[in-house]
Amino acid sequence: MIALGTDHGGFHLKEAAKEFLKEKGIEFIDFGIYEGETADYPDIASVVCEAIQSGKCECGLLFCGTGIGMSIAANKHKGIRAACCSDYFSAKYTRIHNDANVLCLGGRVVGAGLALELIDAFLGSEFEGGRHARRIDKITEIENKN
Ligand code: RB5
Repeated sequence: MIALGTDHGGFHLKEAAKEFLKEKGIEFIDFGIYEGETADYPDIASVVCEAIQSGKCECGLLFCGTGIGMSIAANKHKGIRAACCSDYFSAKYTRIHNDANVLCLGGRVVGAGLALELIDAFLGSEFEGGRHARRIDKITEIENKN
């Protein structure tokens, strides 16, 4: 189950992502915002991250104008590793190497075509473990200390 969330800056990408996931038969929950609404991105980041923390969703897709605000807010949540990406390699390798569980995309940065490619790369890749797991453990240690 994928958690989706956006502010007004990324709304059109969330809608495109929903169509894409439906076509692929991938289940998702749309945590808003919805047509005509505006929101402060940290509020939406929290709802999506809490859905992941509770186990209701395995990972999330967050959208805002740049993708950056959402990633900063999401990364304040324990156990969340959010990556703001605008290129294919990063979207793929943040899963493989960083075990990222949230992909953040900027609605004013990437077009819908590229956004869907990035989502496909992210969702279609798996954490490699091994030496990367040791590094993720170190990130968790930092998180626990602060
Ligand atoms: C909202 O206008 C905008 O500031 C927000 O979507 C985002 O770009 C923040 O990172």
